[in-house]
Amino acid sequence: MTAELKQVSPAELVDLNGRVVCISGAASGIGRAQAELFLAAGASVVALDIDEEGLRRLNESLPTFGERLLCETVDLTVADQVAHAVASGKRAFGSIDTLCNTAGYLDGYSRSLDTSESVWDRVFEINVKGMYRLTNAVLPDMLERRSGVVVNMASIAAFQAGGGGAAYTSSKHAVVGFTRQLAYDYGRSGIRVNAVCPGMIETAMTREVLADPDSKLVKTLKRVPAGRLGRPDDIARVALFLCGPGADFIHGASIIVDGGLMVK
Ligand SMILES: NC(=O)c1ccc[n+]([C@@H]2O[C@H](COP(=O)([O-])OP(=O)(O)OC[C@H]3O[C@@H](n4cnc5c(N)ncnc54)[C@H](O)[C@@H]3O)[C@@H](O)[C@H]2O)c1
Repeated sequence: MTAELKQVSPAELVDLNGRVVCISGAASGIGRAQAELFLAAGASVVALDIDEEGLRRLNESLPTFGERLLCETVDLTVADQVAHAVASGKRAFGSIDTLCNTAGYLDGYSRSLDTSESVWDRVFEINVKGMYRLTNAVLPDMLERRSGVVVNMASIAAFQAGGGGAAYTSSKHAVVGFTRQLAYDYGRSGIRVNAVCPGMIETAMTREVLADPDSKLVKTLKRVPAGRLGRPDDIARVALFLCGPGADFIHGASIIVDGGLMVK
C-alpha cells in the first residue's frame, strides 16, 4: 500500500522536460500564460483555442519554442474538432500526458431571470461540457500509461455568488464537482486531477467589469489582502506546480488563488 516516496530536487518541482501538455483557451489570458510558462519549463504544448488570430499571435511571440508548440484552432463545443485537435497533438508530440482545461466563457453577470436559455447553454457547453469532452479525448491514453495530470480552471465563483451571473457561477460549481469525481474515479489508475480557483485576474474576460469604477466588484477589490489584482501568471504558476511531481499527493483539490479576496 505504501509506495516509496521519490526524491525530488527543488529544480525538478517545475521541470516539465519531455512532458506533453494540452492547454485549452491558450490564445488569451490565463491559458496563454500557462502556454508560455509550460514551454519555458521544457514541455511541448498543444495550444487550443477558438480564436485563430490569438493563436497566431501566441505562435509569433514565441519563435524560440517553435518546435515544441502546436497551435490548433478548435471550438470546444464541437466534438469532431476536439477529437481532430487531440489527434494532431498526438501526431506531433506523441501521447498527451498533461491537460489544462482552461478555456472559459463569462455570462455578463446576469441574474437568472435575465439569462436566456441560449446564454445558459453556451456557458455550460464551454465551461462544463467542453471540459468533459476534451478530458475524455485525452483520458484513454493516460489510463493506458497509468499516468496523467489534469488541471481544471474553476473560479472563486465555484464557492460564492457574485463572481459571475447565474449560469457562470453554476458552471464553476460543476467544474469543482467534475474535478472531484474524476479524481475519485481515476486516481487509483495513476491520474491526478485538481482545480485552480482564481479570484479577480486581469484578462480579456474581466476587462469590462474592471473598467467600471462603480461596479460592486471593483469596490470589493479595494480591500483584497494582496493589495493588487491578479495576473495571469499568478494562476499559471500554481497550475505548473500542480502538474509537477511536488503535487504528487494532491488529488481532487480546488486551490483558491485570489490574493485573499475570499477571506471575508
Ligand atoms: N479572469 C478572471 O478573473 C478569472 C477568474 C476566475 C476564473 N477564470 C477562468 O479562467 C479561465 C481563463 O479565463 P481568462 O480570464 O484567461 O479569459 P480569456 O477570455 O482571456 O481567455 C479565455 C479563452 O477561452 C477561449 N474560448 C472561449 N470559448 C471557447 C471555445 N468554445 N472553444 C475554444 N476556446 C474557447 C477564448 O477564445 C479565450 O482565448 C476561464 O475558465 C475563466 O472562467 C478567470
